[in-house]
Amino acid sequence: MHPTTKLLVLICVAASVVAVSSSTHATGTSARCVPHEREALLEFKGGITSDGETASRTAAAGEASGAAGRTGHVRELHLRNVHANNTLLIDDNETALVGQISPSLLSLRHLVHLDLSVQELQGPTGHVPEFLGSFKKLRYLNLSCIPFIGRVPPHLGNLSRLQSLDLSQSDHVFLSLGAQLSSTDISWLTRLPMLRYLNMQYVNLSLATDWARVVNTLPSLTALCLSQCSLQSANQSLPHHNLTNLEDLDLSENYFVQPSASCWFWNITSLRRLNVGASHLYGQPPSALGGLQHLQVLIYSRSSMGTIPSMRNLCNLEILDLRDNFLHGNIFEMLPRCSPNKLTELHLENNYVRGLPKLIGEFVNIVTLDMSNNQLTGHIPSEIGMLNKLAYLDLSNGSPHGIELLGLSTFHALGGSNKLAYLDLSNNQFASSQTEKNQLTGTIPYEIGMLNNLAYMDLSGNNIGGVVTEEHFANLTSLDFFF
Ligand SMILES: *[C@@H]1O[C@H](CO)[C@@H](O)[C@H](O)[C@H]1NC(C)=O
Ligand SMILES: *[C@@H]1O[C@H](CO)[C@@H](O)[C@H](O)[C@H]1NC(C)=O
Ligand SMILES: *[C@@H]1O[C@H](CO)[C@@H](O)[C@H](O)[C@H]1NC(C)=O
Ligand SMILES: *[C@@H]1O[C@H](CO)[C@@H](O)[C@H](O)[C@H]1NC(C)=O
Ligand SMILES: *[C@@H]1O[C@H](CO)[C@@H](O)[C@H](O)[C@H]1NC(C)=O
Ligand SMILES: *[C@@H]1O[C@H](CO)[C@@H](O)[C@H](O)[C@H]1NC(C)=O
Repeated sequence: MHPTTKLLVLICVAASVVAVSSSTHATGTSARCVPHEREALLEFKGGITSDGETASRTAAAGEASGAAGRTGHVRELHLRNVHANNTLLIDDNETALVGQISPSLLSLRHLVHLDLSVQELQGPTGHVPEFLGSFKKLRYLNLSCIPFIGRVPPHLGNLSRLQSLDLSQSDHVFLSLGAQLSSTDISWLTRLPMLRYLNMQYVNLSLATDWARVVNTLPSLTALCLSQCSLQSANQSLPHHNLTNLEDLDLSENYFVQPSASCWFWNITSLRRLNVGASHLYGQPPSALGGLQHLQVLIYSRSSMGTIPSMRNLCNLEILDLRDNFLHGNIFEMLPRCSPNKLTELHLENNYVRGLPKLIGEFVNIVTLDMSNNQLTGHIPSEIGMLNKLAYLDLSNGSPHGIELLGLSTFHALGGSNKLAYLDLSNNQFASSQTEKNQLTGTIPYEIGMLNNLAYMDLSGNNIGGVVTEEHFANLTSLDFFF
């Protein structure tokens, strides 16, 4: 039997979730399927012109499945392409189903879950079919990474039970096809009051100027991703915000050429993850940022902030990415001062931070610390040795003027960091201070040999002289790269 046929026949088996197996006598059980729904699935199959190797592969892996209720009605259709890493490359259609979404699916009137993601089912016109707005019971619709073009049909606003809508596109699709979905008016979303998850990444919403007012009518939202949507502003004035359940907000890579403080979303205190990276906001974020107490992840990179407000009370913060922001001044004083401090990842690369203060010792859970390309001067404090989870440390390109940065104490301190796997101290000045010169004359201390998990070490561009002996490296059994 043709693999796709087998797949669809199996979907009709009246059991709960039926994973597709390599069973060859599936037709026998298909009698339990409601006949017109079986017909609809066969017609849907007819709309698929090429199934590469997907159907057979998915079938073999048991990953595609359908589910039908006791009545024999098809309730769920899982046809996600799990072999394409979420980034459908158009000339790599080996893994995708190619064809169109047949309107015959409309016979599946009991459908609650429809996932056709990462397949090439855009059909000859390339448009999102309007009839997809007609599934009255649908709660989950995933059309992610199908290379659609044209507008998002407002008919989707008829899916009044919808809880999850994923229309996200991939820029790979855009780059290879020049295709992009767009929507000039997203007011149809206001008719989806139960929506909890909405992802429209890479859908062009540049003309949907009232987007903030629209999403503000969706009080059930917990996750909203409008990254790369060509949004033009985030300074809408809203009387109050309704989004009391919102935990994830991703507005990265948009074109808000506005002061950060004028954005409307700073009052959403339920946020756990906020990504506004590379969205052309400028200026210091408002002090309200310091009140987002549930925040675990803040990505606010590439935004020319200059300075930051106090985040001292953000005790749940685990990941903080402030790279490329023209940051200067006493950054560390503004970071979470909590006990315990939960921060595990801190990105401050490409700023104008001048030093690494002693209070770095409070960040006891830090695993990744990247401060490359700053204007570090002075010594690295020995408190860095208190960070015993530190695995990645990049302090390269500390200063254009070559002021001394590293001293013997650094290596003594780092000697205790036995988790350290990546160490880049290149392009600094090593041990040029008077006090240490006598003892060290710019040689590498033996403590470096205690870093027995080190896989990558770059000490180039320093004034390191002296001899590197075997003793230095005796315990560095993991070292793969040394410069
Ligand atoms: C939709 O499908 C994509 C690709 O298969 C997946 O990464 C994403 O998590 C799905 N969205 C939802 C809301 O489940
Ligand atoms: C669905 O929505 C569209 C556009 O929003 C509308 O024209 C159409 O009448 C609606 N269809 C049904 C069946 O409600
Ligand atoms: C988005 O749509 C607008 C208006 O049609 C257009 O000017 C703009 O170039 C589009 N953006 C992208 C990234 O294609
Ligand atoms: C809040 O949501 C409700 C329900 O969707 C809506 O009627 C109301 O207009 C919204 N408030 C604002 C300020 O948008
Ligand atoms: C939002 O910012 C734009 C400039 O980017 C400005 O023209 C507009 O008046 C601002 N709107 C509000 C409500 O502040
Ligand atoms: C945000 O909070 C400030 C003060 O706490 C208030 O004046 C403003 O109206 C609030 N904005 C929204 C959109 O809730």
